[in-house]
Amino acid sequence: DPSAALRQGLLGLSRSGRVRGVIEKAPVSRDVVRRFVAGETTADAVRASTQLCDSGRLVTIDFLGEDTLDLEQARATTDAYLQLLGALTLEGLATGGRAEVSVKLSAIGQALPGDGEKIALEHAREICQAARNAGTTVTLDMEDHTTTDSTLSVLHDLRQDFPWVGAVLQAYLRRTEADCRDLATEGSRVRLCKGAYKEPESVAFQDALEVSSSYVRCAKVLLEGEGYPMLATHDPQLIDIAAALAAKELREASTYEFQMLYGIRPNEQQRLAADGHRMRVYVPYGDEWYGYLMRRMAERPANTMFFLRAVATK
Ligand code: FDA
Repeated sequence: DPSAALRQGLLGLSRSGRVRGVIEKAPVSRDVVRRFVAGETTADAVRASTQLCDSGRLVTIDFLGEDTLDLEQARATTDAYLQLLGALTLEGLATGGRAEVSVKLSAIGQALPGDGEKIALEHAREICQAARNAGTTVTLDMEDHTTTDSTLSVLHDLRQDFPWVGAVLQAYLRRTEADCRDLATEGSRVRLCKGAYKEPESVAFQDALEVSSSYVRCAKVLLEGEGYPMLATHDPQLIDIAAALAAKELREASTYEFQMLYGIRPNEQQRLAADGHRMRVYVPYGDEWYGYLMRRMAERPANTMFFLRAVATK
């Protein structure tokens, strides 16, 4: 299957430092990156979030970056989140959780040798404290499968003090249905997505249909449970199934939400919001867009063509 091969190839490149150098220096127009990334500065993130909130959507904001092996950079990323939460408070966006933040633990120290997990936990605590002061929440992104146990353990520790901290679970992992059962408890926030990394067959379903049926089983566990499910997908079939499951469970619209990525299916985002669903948009910003953008390319060959055409016509 050529598209599966392209996907695997792009996901391989998303971790390549050499290719990253070439692509970042390529004369890619700002428009290409700007289709998926809100901008580089806190002000850009606040501006995009204000527009989305004004249109009846909610947001979760991600300061781009991942896999840092540099303590200073992990500190700088933590500070960027503190600054962001301050700005959201000033703009009145944080109240009631209209704007929350998403954090990749590998961007705040998890990958550092030795006590990386502990450093990430301390940084995450600072971000959670700032989020609590701002009146909003934090959700931990999920990265490749080698980090899942560590991320769930940090989640567990954080929730002792900040019970509203959420985490992403990835339906492509064979373990995820069981993780959903563990986390489908009162007060627990779980963002369910398909999963975006290159993973071996031993831990992850490879076939798109198998991933979708795992998504349905996981969504069912979460929606039947006591927690707050966040259904993160652009897949029209999965959205319909999740909405039907929520209706069957007689869930109020305020007890779950749909989520999509910035720039992807914006009309569908508006439609779901207009239909009375809570609809949250994941808004990335910052200049470390390479890994994020490559994963979006891998999801859809048409995006890669859009990207290559823009490079070629420069
Ligand atoms: P799928 O990829 O099958 O897409 C369904 C349809 O949506 C496509 O046919 C197309 O119409 C549209 N679409 C999807 N992707 C598109 C794109 N890139 N460009 C244009 N159209 C597109 N992953 C992860 O591993 N860890 C994480 O922490 C997160 N976090 C996260 C948060 C949120 C809010 C979302 C929405 C997604 C994530 N993801 C993630 C990414 C997720 O794992 C997955 O890779 C993407 O959401 C794409 O999968 P879909 O469920 O949308 O289905």
